[in-house]
Amino acid sequence: MKIVSIVNHKGGVGKTTFTGCLGQALGLSGYRVLLIDNDGQHNLSSLVGTGICSPNLRDVYKAGDNEAAATFLKSVRKTGIGNVHIVTSSSGLSEGDVKDISYMQRCLAACGLGRFYDFVLIDNAPGLGMLQMAAVHASNEIFVPTELRQFAVDGLAEMEKILKETYPSAPPITRIIPNFYRATKRQNTFIAALHRLFPGRVTQTAIPMDSVFDELVTEGKTLFLHRLYSKGAAYYLKIMHELFDLDERKVWETMLEKRRKRMSDEARERYFARREEARANRERQESP
Ligand SMILES: Nc1ncnc2c1ncn2[C@@H]1O[C@H](COP(=O)(O)OP(=O)(O)OP(=O)(O)O)[C@@H](O)[C@H]1O
Ligand SMILES: [Mg+2]
Repeated sequence: MKIVSIVNHKGGVGKTTFTGCLGQALGLSGYRVLLIDNDGQHNLSSLVGTGICSPNLRDVYKAGDNEAAATFLKSVRKTGIGNVHIVTSSSGLSEGDVKDISYMQRCLAACGLGRFYDFVLIDNAPGLGMLQMAAVHASNEIFVPTELRQFAVDGLAEMEKILKETYPSAPPITRIIPNFYRATKRQNTFIAALHRLFPGRVTQTAIPMDSVFDELVTEGKTLFLHRLYSKGAAYYLKIMHELFDLDERKVWETMLEKRRKRMSDEARERYFARREEARANRERQESP
């Protein structure tokens, strides 16, 4: 089992979108995935459609060592994709809820999550405080989505320095994923700068700017079921291949099959609903 924290101290760089879409892509490819929403904004809980549930991660932090694992397991909820589960957040979740940065690590270990999941993905609030550190300490890897702007690129080197100096036992930043990519000369300069600063750690695939990501939130859709033919979905499949060495073509076929099944299930449900409605109408007209 791999535990990955998605972190960037900068806000609005695509951490939640990346965590949600990557988790759903892994789930649709047959892996068992647990998402953890470690952000009081609870955007990930909204993205996967569960919203805030009770108990949730805040209750886990408050439970104390003896009750942490039991509360965590009680907090796990199913999402719309079969083998993707989530521990949701709560709007009150904040730095003050974390007393000890090793707490989540002890909790996840006590849960024995390896029996149930192949991947645990933790979405983090912007910043680098106690909340993020608790997640990072529990993780084997750190993925950092980033936008392609001067301050964002400069900020990453700073962020790595803070992580190393303040929390020497934290895992290293394993992958940096350029997001909001537009094929302009300026953006390519930032990509080249990232490769220079973090050799071997920047993904070759950059996630393109695509309005489909906003639609997912506003329309409650799943990228790979409702928008499989979008640019965004195609690039996510490439990213998965790079990050986890998954066969792009096989993943595509599996998703296509799941999408086909879902569409035919929905069409069947619509057909029976219409037939039932027509029958009820007929009965109403025939009754004296
Ligand atoms: N590649 C993309 N192209 C276009 N829009 C995107 C892309 N990735 C993310 N977005 C949009 O950008 C906005 C911010 O994304 P997201 O919420 O994932 O960022 P975040 O880093 O989690 O933010 P926060 O720091 O507030 O938690 C959202 O509206 C999302 O739909
Ligand atoms: Mg977020």
